[in-house]
Amino acid sequence: MAILVTGGAGYIGSVTVERLTKKGESIVALDDLAHGRRESIDGDVPFYQGSVGDRALIARIVKDHAIESCVHFASLISVGESEQRPAEYFENNVQQGISLIGALLQAGVRNFVFSSTAAVYGDSEKMPIGEDSPQWPKNTYGWTKFMFERLLETYDTAYGLKSICLRYFNASGATERCGEDHDPETHLIPNVLAAAADPQREVRIFGNKYPTPDGTPIRDYVHVADLADAHIGALEHLRGVGTSHALNLGTGRGYSVLEVVEAARRVTGCPIRVRIEASRAGDPPRLVADPSRAKSILGWSPAKSDLSSIIQSAWDWRKKFPHGYKSLTSAK
Ligand SMILES: NC(=O)c1ccc[n+]([C@@H]2O[C@H](COP(=O)([O-])OP(=O)(O)OC[C@H]3O[C@@H](n4cnc5c(N)ncnc54)[C@H](O)[C@@H]3O)[C@@H](O)[C@H]2O)c1
Repeated sequence: MAILVTGGAGYIGSVTVERLTKKGESIVALDDLAHGRRESIDGDVPFYQGSVGDRALIARIVKDHAIESCVHFASLISVGESEQRPAEYFENNVQQGISLIGALLQAGVRNFVFSSTAAVYGDSEKMPIGEDSPQWPKNTYGWTKFMFERLLETYDTAYGLKSICLRYFNASGATERCGEDHDPETHLIPNVLAAAADPQREVRIFGNKYPTPDGTPIRDYVHVADLADAHIGALEHLRGVGTSHALNLGTGRGYSVLEVVEAARRVTGCPIRVRIEASRAGDPPRLVADPSRAKSILGWSPAKSDLSSIIQSAWDWRKKFPHGYKSLTSAK
């Protein structure tokens, strides 16, 4: 029996493939490589380049590899882009996702782990954010995840599809092998480290008039290896207890953009230039998780997610792969 990992050549997917493989699980990875990198996963892992919306392909993979569970990372992930191209986001993240779970159900697969996001909460007044906080996403990306979560609830009641929706806060950091290599990169830590590596570059900070102590937005950063381990816990839970849940994955501690820049200056020893720009629509001032439900249900708590370790791991990866995964192919 094997686990299908969609979006397995992406940032969090590749780390999860790495850690599941280390645990001795059989993995099949699927990715359309629109944003993923084939080099990010070991050549020994069975890999299909294709789309999660391709029902015939999913049916074939499930049959050929005796798939028993699916971890669904595949998604378009850029908040800004989702506002400019909402149709693409709904089609990719919702419509294709519906095809995926349709094909899985038809083949008898009942265990499903879904990559959700803190963006489902929108502007939460209460901090830290518990899973029962009101949900009203501030952008199309968040709505695609919100809609898919609702869909999973109804599929559980009607068809017995058991799911764990993992609402990640800010994924960050790297393992020795896998790191963050998005193009364009919209996430803070890789952009801060790019500015550390290149004195000509500046970190763009979107707004410094938020109602936070230094005026910049506060986020909860969680190490990608800790996130990956939560998926392992979620799969074990689905195979054992077998109940559906939505769970926050964060640390419960937030850092402002300026605090992240300062921590990166300490870790790298580099002066990092910043430029303040206008704030972006749809950026809540503060997103910090209450992760206690993930602890009680999965026994999960982040072990590698202190900010300095996150930045150190991402910096080490960057030094090893200065051009991201392209460094691997250009070295051959
Ligand atoms: N990175 C974060 O901080 C963060 C935070 C919250 C939630 N998430 C969620 O986690 C998941 C993974 O995020 P990531 O940062 O690794 O992103 P990523 O872009 O690195 O990985 C997503 C992968 O999915 C693939 N993909 C997209 N649509 C596909 C499709 N229709 N068929 C097949 N493959 C497809 C892409 O090629 C890419 O490799 C996403 O669902 C994202 O919404 C990420």
